[in-house]
Amino acid sequence: MTDAAIVMITKREDEIVQTLCRAEEVPADEPLRVVLPDDHAVAVYRWEGGFYCTDDLCSHGEASLSEGFVEEGQIFCPFHMGSFCISTGEPRAAPCSEPIRAYAVTERDGVLLIER
Ligand code: FES
Repeated sequence: MTDAAIVMITKREDEIVQTLCRAEEVPADEPLRVVLPDDHAVAVYRWEGGFYCTDDLCSHGEASLSEGFVEEGQIFCPFHMGSFCISTGEPRAAPCSEPIRAYAVTERDGVLLIER
């Protein structure tokens, strides 16, 4: 797990675009934990040339998903090895049964953004 600092928040009419980190900060082989300004933690993934983002907290317990590993487009929780799709947040492997939130990631000038 690697932590990164938030750079800025930009407000538009009905959305909040939040800057996660620079694309180059996301390791190729492990998730990056990012804590947003409201203390909400997300996990950022680099997978097959794209970037993905989900909530960091597992829906099954108090585990930080950024301490897990990604395989076949799924994040595997470090506690009980349940998994979620990193694109949709849907549970893929037990004991996980409740989805987590997934965010569409946009890359702009080398910076990763999500809307919340
Ligand atoms: S806490 Fe994540 S699978 Fe149990």
